[in-house]
Amino acid sequence: MSETWHRVAAAADIPEGRMQGFEIDGRDVVVCNSREGWFALDNVCTHAYARMHEGRLRGCRLICPLHGASFDVRDGSVLGAPATTPLATYPVRVVDGQVEVSLPSPAD
Ligand code: FES
Repeated sequence: MSETWHRVAAAADIPEGRMQGFEIDGRDVVVCNSREGWFALDNVCTHAYARMHEGRLRGCRLICPLHGASFDVRDGSVLGAPATTPLATYPVRVVDGQVEVSLPSPAD
């Protein structure tokens, strides 16, 4: 599967413990700068419709603003109800101070 890296922000603009939402190729993605590093996940909760970047980031726990489901930013797994389906995750890296997210190319 091929990947395409998308530059989304300067790393300095997202301090540790913060997150930011981006639309990348029509996909809603949240980029988290957690205490364990950078992670990128789908920005729409798997329970109903809420944008995760409007919630809270506590350590590696990403908490939905609507009903409080929580997910592990490292692998998208569910840590707390009411969600039961994990969030998709994407590779993220910092190159020359810029945060980049890799999404599968549309052909995949
Ligand atoms: S929409 Fe996220 S927990 Fe309900």
